[in-house]
Amino acid sequence: MQFFLDTANLNEIREAAALGIADGVTTNPTLIAKEGGVDFKKHIAAICEIVQGPVSAEVTTDQADEMLRQGREYAKIAPNVVIKCPLTREGLKATRQLSDEGIRVNVTLCFSSAQAILAAKAGASFISPFLGRLDDIGENGLVLLSDILEIYRNYDWDTEVLAASLRHPVHVIEAARLGADIATMPFKVIDQLFNHPLTDKGQAQFLADWQKSGRK
Ligand code: E4P
Repeated sequence: MQFFLDTANLNEIREAAALGIADGVTTNPTLIAKEGGVDFKKHIAAICEIVQGPVSAEVTTDQADEMLRQGREYAKIAPNVVIKCPLTREGLKATRQLSDEGIRVNVTLCFSSAQAILAAKAGASFISPFLGRLDDIGENGLVLLSDILEIYRNYDWDTEVLAASLRHPVHVIEAARLGADIATMPFKVIDQLFNHPLTDKGQAQFLADWQKSGRK
């Protein structure tokens, strides 16, 4: 399973890259807005300099024609830019066209198996089911992820399943258990994956014993 970072913060992306676990990056308009008044295209270019894998840049319109215009423009920023289109009728029209032009599309805001099937039929390179947001309304995001993976395994579609809106380590572990191609997560969740009190305690003990033994 590949690890994507779900952030537009350059320091977090650099830190995850230094840890060797940033296979890609997903951004969205909310994450870009958090970075203040940055120039969107320059910011995506800066991310693409840090991470070699897919970097999602999201369109910001409801109309397919404008999505196409933005998508074609953003795709020129760097070869690893992937265009994020919403799972709407207009979004899937744009997905079909961009895919036909050889531009990779990550279809975002997926909340049902039916939508995931449509995205694959439209030629999406990635489908992003939002687990955490389903959990937020009392549904089970992991059930949706499992259903999509089961359906996709029946066909030779090229669409990779990108588990998104992950909120905690259990989401990541279960996404891996189910066989998601990719998990995208905030830096905070990556950090939580490392933590175990027995690791901290054991390491402190080893260092203390080494020092006590008089070795340098
Ligand atoms: C995915 O590409 C989205 O940017 C993201 O996972 C949304 O997560 P959220 O529900 O925590 O905002």
